[in-house]
Amino acid sequence: MTSDASEIKKAAELLRQGKLVAFPTETVYGLGGNALMGDTIARIYDAKGRPQFNPLITHVASLEEAQRYGYFSGEALQLAKAFWPGPLTLIVPRNKGCTLSLLVSAGLDCIGLRVPAHTMAQTLLIEAGVPVAAPSANRSGRISPTEASHVAEELGDRVDMILDGGPCEVGIESTVVDMTGPAPVLLRPGSVMLDALRKVVPEVQPLSAQPEDFKSPGLLASHYAPSKPLRLNAKDVWAGEALLAFGRNLPAGPHIIENLSYSEDLQEAAANLFRMLRALDVTCARSIAVMPIPEKGLGVAINDRLKRAAAPK
Ligand code: TXA
Ligand code: MG
Repeated sequence: MTSDASEIKKAAELLRQGKLVAFPTETVYGLGGNALMGDTIARIYDAKGRPQFNPLITHVASLEEAQRYGYFSGEALQLAKAFWPGPLTLIVPRNKGCTLSLLVSAGLDCIGLRVPAHTMAQTLLIEAGVPVAAPSANRSGRISPTEASHVAEELGDRVDMILDGGPCEVGIESTVVDMTGPAPVLLRPGSVMLDALRKVVPEVQPLSAQPEDFKSPGLLASHYAPSKPLRLNAKDVWAGEALLAFGRNLPAGPHIIENLSYSEDLQEAAANLFRMLRALDVTCARSIAVMPIPEKGLGVAINDRLKRAAAPK
């Protein structure tokens, strides 16, 4: 059942006290903690089993609040004004005297900031009145949660409270753009797509245009991974495989099947992706075959997550 106003109030109070609260955003559920409190941030890394070199996104209620902690260049301001509130994270330099815990930056001199659009997240941030650091509410390297029950499966009693906002509308994590270099760089594809970013700031570069060693701590090759092996671009189904399908033209054979979208709607596919991977992961199949997803529009972000899910661990 979705959480009501009194539960949101309680969650806000817990956040102020330094407790951990999982909450819904339009992308995925976050594991939130007061970004001003170092010991709370340390607990987030611990609860996720997350490597300490991988920085966290700080969630705030407005651009004005974001500017208290980070420096926004003209281009950063343009992107924030165009896409906030929404599924876009901007990496910007820390302001002098920035009071956010150094741990959220994991030793870098920049911070990831995002103003989520989800109503419950907005209400929570406004009521809490503190910046909230929140990585996706899964154990490190695993599939991001898109429903409250996924968070409970992943984190159990490592989290003090879980707010339930129903299934997440977007279903894959926010687009991440690094604003700290000479030109903005798209670090993680998401539902705010490269063309849309370039309509506002034409200089935005895709990550592939950058040298291999470019700073992108969170972009570990293996990520978002189910425990069963994944086989991508499958045109047929092998013995022992379950099928993650897309569209109506299914190969013969599989008994265990989830379909991302019968009508080949990429938005629907993104919203279903992590829930269906989870569902297939707990079946008796040995591995998961994934049908090809077109590499256009949201398909770029979906394929990015699938490639990481299939990468050797
Ligand atoms: O949609 C989302 O972004 C969700 C919801 C909860 O907001 N959060 C999320 O957080 O996906 P997480 O921690 O799973 O992914 C954050 C990504 C990581 O790849 C991290 O390395 C990168 O953002 N990141 C965060 N702060 C950064 C910084 N200061 N510099 C470089 N990369 C940063
Ligand atoms: Mg994550």
